[in-house]
This record gives sequence, C-alpha cells and structure tokens, in this order.
Amino acid sequence: MDGLRVLITRQQIAAKVSEMGARITADFAGEPVVLIGVLKGSTIFLADLARQIQLDASFDFIAVSSYGNAKQHSGEVRLVKDVDHSLEGKNVILVEDILDTGLTLGYIKSLFQAHQPKSIKIAALLDKVSRRTEPIEADYVGFAIPDEFVVGYGLDFAERYRNLPDVCILEACSDGA
Ligand code: IMP
Ligand code: MG
Repeated sequence: MDGLRVLITRQQIAAKVSEMGARITADFAGEPVVLIGVLKGSTIFLADLARQIQLDASFDFIAVSSYGNAKQHSGEVRLVKDVDHSLEGKNVILVEDILDTGLTLGYIKSLFQAHQPKSIKIAALLDKVSRRTEPIEADYVGFAIPDEFVVGYGLDFAERYRNLPDVCILEACSDGA
C-alpha cells in the first residue's frame, strides 16, 4: 500500500511471538495466568501470543483513552473499560501492542497493583525505547523499534491498518515530531 514500508515481517513476528510464549510458559511453570489485553491494539498480538503459551490461561480486556490526537499523547490516561473479573491473587500479564512514552502502561500497572494480584508482568510486542518518559519497562519485549509511527498487526492510525499482517512504518503521515 502507498506510504507504507514494512519494518517487521509477519514471519519475524511469528518467530518472536513463539519465543515470547515459550519464555512465559517456562517462567510461570504450570501456574495459571490471566492475559489482559489493552483494547484495541493488542488484540491480534494477544490472539497469537495466547496460542504459544502452554498454561491454563484466561483472557480479560480493558480499554483506556488518552487525551490528545492520534499521534501525540496528552499525558492523561482514563480507564474506559475495566476488567470483568477480580485479579486478586492472579498472575496477571498485561498485553500491549507498543510501549511508547510508558504513560498508558504506567497508569494501568499502578491501577492493577491495587487489585493485589499475585504477580503482574508486561508483554509488549514493540518498544519505542527512545520515547520513554515514565520509569516503566516490559518484562517480555518483542522488538525495540526506532521512533517512527508504525501500523499493522493490531496497530492503527485513526482506526485504519490494524489488519495488516506486517508491522509497517506509516511514511506518508510522518509528522516529524
Ligand atoms: P504510551 O502511553 O505513550 O506508551 O502509548 C502507548 C499507546 O500509544 C499504544 O497503546 C498505542 O495505542 C499508541 N501508539 C504509540 N506509538 C504508536 C505507533 O507508532 N503506532 C500506533 N499507535 C501507537
Ligand atoms: Mg494501544
């Protein structure tokens, strides 16, 4: 498609997601886990990752909205949809498409700590390391990427491109910020 350049191919994603699933399977050694997807960007990653985890796993989803336009974070995060079930005593794995400034996951993680889970980990497919403003890191990271706006494999620009099988740089809309 015009204005799109493939950054990470579907084959690279599949291999990495499989590695991440194997690590999670080994780390939790037979214990049950709750995968919590952050809507909507994480859905495709969560669907693939879950099938690479050989543990008793359940799903839940939350939705947050960050004020600001599609590309620029305002710094304020609001919970739009909470989990359906209690997380008390559970092994929680927050599943997110991309860790950028860290505001979203920082907010969610501190919110969930109040639920007193047994453990709380973060799995992020992508990590824009140079953009981080919050002291937060993912426990499981797929790929560290440069400061480019990416779409595909769940990631959107104005709700478009989520269904692309590869992670692509959206060049046409680069705002140079
Ligand atoms: P953070 O709160 O700044 O870490 O932003 C994380 C959220 O911003 C992600 O869940 C995405 O929804 C969105 N985001 C950040 N970078 C990109 C990108 O390059 N493409 C698409 N969405 C992005
Ligand atoms: Mg998101």
